[in-house]
Amino acid sequence: MTQDELKQAVAQAAADYVAQHAPAGSIIGVGTGSTANFFIDALAPLKDKYQGAVASSEATRIRLESHGIRVLDLNEVDDIPVYVDGADEIDSGLNMIKGGGGALTREKIVAAVARTFVCIADRSKLVGTMGKFPLPVEVIPMASAHVARQLTKLGGTPVQRAGFVTDNGNLILDVHGLAITDPKGLETQINQIAGVVTNGLFALRPANLLLLGTAEGVKSIG
Ligand code: 5RP
Repeated sequence: MTQDELKQAVAQAAADYVAQHAPAGSIIGVGTGSTANFFIDALAPLKDKYQGAVASSEATRIRLESHGIRVLDLNEVDDIPVYVDGADEIDSGLNMIKGGGGALTREKIVAAVARTFVCIADRSKLVGTMGKFPLPVEVIPMASAHVARQLTKLGGTPVQRAGFVTDNGNLILDVHGLAITDPKGLETQINQIAGVVTNGLFALRPANLLLLGTAEGVKSIG
C-alpha cells in the first residue's frame, strides 16, 4: 500500500469512529494536513448527521466548506466529543509532535476543548523517541531572535520556516536536533519562553486513541 492509501484507510476508520461515538447533532473537531484532508473527505457523507465542524486552520475550513460542511467558530461551541487530526510523530504514550503544516496553535486549542482526540497516522509516524522531526514553535515575530537563542540553550537548532506566516500572523521556528525524552517537561519549558505562542509538543494533552495505518490494516492503540 502507498502512504496515501494508508492515510485514506485511517481517515475512513476515523469517520467510522465518529459515526459510532459522536452523537447526532454534535460538532466534530477537524485537524489539518494531508491525513486530515482524507478525513474531511470521509466525513462528508455524514454531514447531515452533525451540526457542523470546528476547523483547526483556514485550509481545513475551506476544505470543509467545499463539501458543504458547516464550520462553526470555536467561541460558539462548548462541547466537541471527538477531534480527529494527524501528527508528524507519535510515541507509544500517544504524545505527539504536530505543526508540520503550521497549524499547531489552533490544533492545540481545539484539542483542549475536545473530549476525545483521535490521532490518525500512517506507520511511519510512530517512533520510539520523538525529535527526529523538527519541533515547530510558533512565535510572535518581534520575539523570534530571543526565542531562537533560548531554544539553542535547550540544545536545539532553531530554523525559521522560510516564507511562512501562520493563520495567526506569527512565525514558525523548526527546532532540529532535540531528543525528546521528557515531552511534558519540554512542552512546559518551551511554552514559558516569552514570545512563544505555543510549541508542537502535544504531551500535556496527548491523543486518547491512535488509528495507525499499517500494511496489515488499521490498528487501534490506546
Ligand atoms: C499540521 C499538523 C499535521 O497534523 C501534521 O503535520 C501531519 O500532517 P500530514 O497528515 O500531512 O502528514 O500538525 O499542523
